[in-house]
Amino acid sequence: MNLLTTKIDLDAIAHNTRVLKKMAGSAKLMAVVKANAYNHGVEKVAPVIAAHGADAFGVATLAEALQLREIGIAQEILCWIWTPEQDFKAALERNIDLAVISPAHAQALIDSDDQPIRVSIKVETGLHRSGVDESEWEAVFDALAAAPHIEVTGLFTHLACADEPENPETDEQIIAFRRALALARKHGLECPVNHVCNSPAFLTRSDLHMEMVRPGLAFYGLEPVVGLDHGLRPAMTWEAKVSVVKQIEPGQGTSYGLTWRAEDRGFVAVIPAGYADGMPRHAQGRFSVTINGVDYPQVGRVCMDQFVISLGENPHGVQAGAQAVIFGENGHDATDFADRLGTINYEVVCRPTGRTVREYI
Ligand SMILES: Cc1ncc(COP(=O)(O)O)c(C=O)c1O
Repeated sequence: MNLLTTKIDLDAIAHNTRVLKKMAGSAKLMAVVKANAYNHGVEKVAPVIAAHGADAFGVATLAEALQLREIGIAQEILCWIWTPEQDFKAALERNIDLAVISPAHAQALIDSDDQPIRVSIKVETGLHRSGVDESEWEAVFDALAAAPHIEVTGLFTHLACADEPENPETDEQIIAFRRALALARKHGLECPVNHVCNSPAFLTRSDLHMEMVRPGLAFYGLEPVVGLDHGLRPAMTWEAKVSVVKQIEPGQGTSYGLTWRAEDRGFVAVIPAGYADGMPRHAQGRFSVTINGVDYPQVGRVCMDQFVISLGENPHGVQAGAQAVIFGENGHDATDFADRLGTINYEVVCRPTGRTVREYI
């Protein structure tokens, strides 16, 4: 029996995939499953997404792309974080598409002329992270158009402010993207499949779907824009078994530094999740866990392996072995938990690590 688990609801993943597929309409649906499917466990999650409508997969690293092939994913896979010094040929051999994110990346692929290569060019349009700068577009387009072993599937870019639908920055980026596309075509690249939409843009800007959309977060059932509801079902619940319940007297403190002291006689309970498991130490005093539908505040320092909650007088008789929901089903949702911690739902689903074990339902 595991004390600390993330329950991953594969039916929710299937449901979300169907919802997104329908929303995508005629656009292809690329599922972003980087970071171990946003910490949901790519081995189990990707086949479900593949079976329910994804046309393609997107990952950050070469290792993630290779892992998808190893688990039997046959759809096209695009990888966008790699360097020419890495063994990118292993990925090409497995039919993985590589993103050209700088002129050096383009050159490495042009020089690697031993096999057909499919690429998508990531153009810089305003995020200023990775992507080919406008001053380099022409040279990169020309060089790739002249390489007979390279097939350019299209262009893509990543939006900086799509989670703020009113922010004009997105439209500025789209203007730049369309400029890049026109230039690429003028320089002989057909660019049949182009894409800009992450989850927030996909869900709020159907006018930007183009030939493919590229959401991640939405597959896991979370809304990237506060206040929206697309009928997605959160797939992850982080929960722990209470390891100890003990009495505490007025004035007694708990956990390192005794930063919290009981005002009244009551009970505290220990939850076996600490910063080694992804519960941030600075979460102290900011959240509560839910046991049988009742909320109990976290108190005192978050330790490496455990934190403490106050049960007050323990009117509901919580005992060791009780199931405490940190976030997810029957507790606070990931977005609410994230708000309390001063972060975003993307980060909190990536948090459960360490001794947390995934259980699939
Ligand atoms: C290049 C790229 N495309 C798409 C996504 C998916 O974003 P989201 O999870 O907001 O849908 C990400 C994630 O950060 C990304 O880096």
